[in-house]
Amino acid sequence: MTVMTDAAPQAAAKPHLPDAQIVTQVKHWTDRLFSFRVTRPKSLRFRSGEFVMIGLLGDTGKPLLRAYSIASPAWDDELEFYSIKVPDGPLTSRLQHIQVGDEIILRPKPVGTLVHDALLPGNRIWFLATGTGFAPFASLLREPETYEKYESVIMMHTCREVGELEYGRQLVESLKDDPLIGEMVAGKLQYYPTTTREPSAHMGRITDNLLSGKVFADLNLPPMDAEHDRAMVCGSLAFNHDVKAVLEKFGLHEGANSEPLEYVVEKAFVGDGI
Ligand code: FAD
Ligand code: A2P
Repeated sequence: MTVMTDAAPQAAAKPHLPDAQIVTQVKHWTDRLFSFRVTRPKSLRFRSGEFVMIGLLGDTGKPLLRAYSIASPAWDDELEFYSIKVPDGPLTSRLQHIQVGDEIILRPKPVGTLVHDALLPGNRIWFLATGTGFAPFASLLREPETYEKYESVIMMHTCREVGELEYGRQLVESLKDDPLIGEMVAGKLQYYPTTTREPSAHMGRITDNLLSGKVFADLNLPPMDAEHDRAMVCGSLAFNHDVKAVLEKFGLHEGANSEPLEYVVEKAFVGDGI
């Protein structure tokens, strides 16, 4: 299901909330997933892969904010977000109903570890995501620096069902026609989407496909090693924990903005009770 609402730029619209931005586009991908675009504050500078706090005014009149990866690249005039719909989630039970012309709150203080500066130079970069963990890579896949820094870019995205891959699939598909990076992407990007609970062309968990060597065989790549391979990881806490163990097995070490190494990790969300 893709339901889209779009409109001419809201040039005349004036925001009323503090730090408000205007919604310019909303697309619903499944019952649980949607994406939207908002105006970009003129002063906002960020590195592709970072996240910000966004939200709506709560019932008490106080802002109800949550962390969101910016899914658009640093050069884009607007900001894009890719979101879950949690039925009784304080924010997303309401956010899922936003429409073009509505206002959201956006605190312009970007942070995060999924940035190129946090990795040592290498030959291949692996983007490893489950679910909405694809969002920071929607930014990095549209970032020219990704293709300038690496000979090979591999995007592995895993969801339970095929429909949940659609936002990522369409985004990857659109890259080859992108006037800015279309030529840079050609021959460099390999996309490896998998499902775990519905049949599709490629199946299985990212951890299993790395450990079994299946993904290397399918993509005709050598196994990962610390000299050539770099990775960025974004998924649930359990996924991040298990992928880290796999990457360490291949000899990669976790880096940070303050100490660039071979891989970096970010939470796609904080689970119940954690
Ligand atoms: P919450 O009370 O925040 O969450 C309720 C429960 O829903 C959680 O305990 C968890 O079990 C589940 N849940 C929350 N978010 C997700 C999710 N994304 N996928 C699956 N289950 C989830 N969310 C996005 O949709 N897109 C993003 O780009 C994004 N980036 C994030 C970046 C960081 C660094 C962090 C820490 C979180 C990010 N989140 C993202 C999660 C987001 O902050 C909220 O948790 C989410 O919007 C739900 O808000 P809520 O108030 O409706 O429910
Ligand atoms: P699976 O269906 O085998 O659990 P979820 O919706 O639970 O967040 O999961 C999103 C995707 O991430 C699913 O395909 C799921 O596979 C996979 N996944 C969940 N936990 C892990 C993990 N610890 N290691 C690898 N993949 C995981």
